[in-house]
Amino acid sequence: MSLEIPSITQLGWPTEWAMHFGREAMLRVEVGFGDATFLTALGRNFPESNVLGLEISRPSIRRAIKKIEEEKLGNIRLLKVSGLAFLWFLCDLGSIEALYINFPDPWPKSGHHERRLINARFLELAATRMKIGALLRIATDHEEYAYWINSCLQQTKCFVSSLNQPYVRGEAKRINSKYERMALSEKKACIYFDWERNEIESNNQFLIPKELPMPHVVLRLPMTVGEVSRHFNPYSLSEDRFSVRYISLYQSPSRQILVVDAYVREDPLEQRVLLMARRREQEEYIVQLHEVGFPRPTAGIHFAVQYFADWLCSLHEDAQIIRRNLRIAPKEEKEKV
Ligand SMILES: C[S@@+](CC[C@H](N)C(=O)[O-])C[C@H]1O[C@@H](n2cnc3c(N)ncnc32)[C@H](O)[C@@H]1O
Repeated sequence: MSLEIPSITQLGWPTEWAMHFGREAMLRVEVGFGDATFLTALGRNFPESNVLGLEISRPSIRRAIKKIEEEKLGNIRLLKVSGLAFLWFLCDLGSIEALYINFPDPWPKSGHHERRLINARFLELAATRMKIGALLRIATDHEEYAYWINSCLQQTKCFVSSLNQPYVRGEAKRINSKYERMALSEKKACIYFDWERNEIESNNQFLIPKELPMPHVVLRLPMTVGEVSRHFNPYSLSEDRFSVRYISLYQSPSRQILVVDAYVREDPLEQRVLLMARRREQEEYIVQLHEVGFPRPTAGIHFAVQYFADWLCSLHEDAQIIRRNLRIAPKEEKEKV
């Protein structure tokens, strides 16, 4: 059984974790495990839990795999994903028994606060996925981020401090994470939040997106792939929940194929996908999602296919859409940014 769980687009939404751990157990999750010192301690200290480490850094995952294998810890799995996307798409309601966040990046500049992992929305979401009584442990050495975290916790009515104060300073009696060891060696005070999920019902505005059929559009376009590709310039579109950047276009005249490399963002998921336009008969193209990279056909992907097809149609006055199976309402107006 692999230590690293497949990517978010290959997993079930929500995921059957027992399949990946080889047993049923509640989840103990660390977001941003870094050098995995704390994560491996969780695995050792809670052999009855399924311990899941989340990271966005590939090198951290590689190093953690080595550590876990050396220590032969059978109850830990790793996943390359952002904490927000994990909670939203992959977790069932009430499936987490403990959530740990150690020394999250503080993004100290005021213009960067929106990049902070912890905010009121993140905590609202976490509350929906945590069972009553589940632990929420957060540590930081950044004073201003600690005030921010505290005010977010106070706003989210679903957590209560297990201490008789919002947080404590000092040195926790536990295996220290790498950033904790660095802060302590510089004599910086570490700040610890030790909270619990209370019994207040959470407001689950975070519905798991439904998988849609593979999108396709058939259109009439009296142009060769070479003629089309000469018109391409990178462009971006955004609308409501979606944004797409069409980065480059490649052509294969021998196979009558155009491929566009695109980033599709639908908060909190970002997929890099290839969209393909294949010339079938003399004046007909079919626009589809290329299977490379296991893309997930979400509403954002349907949006990206629609606007790629619209762009193709905009190239010739006789072009027109013949058929489409897209599950998003066609828009009268599109906004180019
Ligand atoms: C400052 S380091 C702390 C590492 C470790 N927790 C420690 O205390 O030593 C923050 C870590 O969180 C990871 N990270 C940042 N944003 C994340 C996100 N949205 N989801 C998961 N991990 C994230 C980073 O890659 C980095 O390894």
